[in-house]
Amino acid sequence: MYDWAKFRKTKGAIKLHCLMDIKGSIPTFMVLTDGKKHDATIAQDVPFPLLPDSIITFDRAYMDFGVFGAYQKNGIFLVEDIAQAHGARWKEKPMGSFGHVSAISFHPSKNLGAFGDGGAVLTNDDAIAKKVRIFRNLGKSDKYRFDAIAPNSKLDTLQAVILGIKLRYLDTWVQRRSNLAQQYLDGLRDITEIKLPRIHPQAQHAWHLFVIRTEKRMALQSYLKSKNIRAGLHYPIAAHQQPAIAEQIGHQSLPLAEEWAKTCLTLPLSHEHRDDEIATVIHEVRQFFGVQ
Ligand SMILES: Cc1ncc(COP(=O)(O)O)c(C=O)c1O
Repeated sequence: MYDWAKFRKTKGAIKLHCLMDIKGSIPTFMVLTDGKKHDATIAQDVPFPLLPDSIITFDRAYMDFGVFGAYQKNGIFLVEDIAQAHGARWKEKPMGSFGHVSAISFHPSKNLGAFGDGGAVLTNDDAIAKKVRIFRNLGKSDKYRFDAIAPNSKLDTLQAVILGIKLRYLDTWVQRRSNLAQQYLDGLRDITEIKLPRIHPQAQHAWHLFVIRTEKRMALQSYLKSKNIRAGLHYPIAAHQQPAIAEQIGHQSLPLAEEWAKTCLTLPLSHEHRDDEIATVIHEVRQFFGVQ
């Protein structure tokens, strides 16, 4: 059994988790924590009361690896969504290599992006790999045999070639993102009205997004826009409040997730940004908050 009490008390880094039970097609939102506060639709000290078959977990930075161990001990199937974690590592081990199966997106906006849509499933499990191969190709197990009803979800060869070339640069690009993220962290640290992301010393963050939190996020976003700086919202509607499922899950209240949705603001960050561009953003954010 995993010790949730210990998990909540662990200090030193933001641990952002959203765990969803995916039994059936409607997710049950289980936990979101930033290491201090805690959302849960479950009784907080009773781990896995829902006895889920499977849990999908996604994280901007990295996971609490005690939780992974707990899944395995409880025989719960673990799906990693690493769509925002290309190049992230925990103790040198890449994200995507912890779960039974991982899903990755190659949307052009991602750290490793194709020139169009794309994605992949990662697994070490031969049975899952076989099923996924069938499901990506119209349910065909060989040229003339259909074992399942499935869509055509093959990755285009051209995209695969592009991704194969870009993959060589992924670590360098993530390192560049890290350097720029560090500039933001150093340049914004003394602004009390901003909450900055924190990094665990044993984690390599993917820095797909650089998300700050502030009560003044809409005003800051407009101010930055007036200076020709585009800051995004990831995401303004918490997952459990999305119209697609809010009703089915009984309009649950998850105060922490809702607070994040109201206060988050994504500052520009990519491996292509120059140092002076990030310095300009830092300067304008400081101007906005009146911090010299
Ligand atoms: C965490 C996460 N999961 C899944 C997805 C979906 O990826 P795709 O649009 O390639 O299916 C995204 C895309 O933004 C994402 O950020």
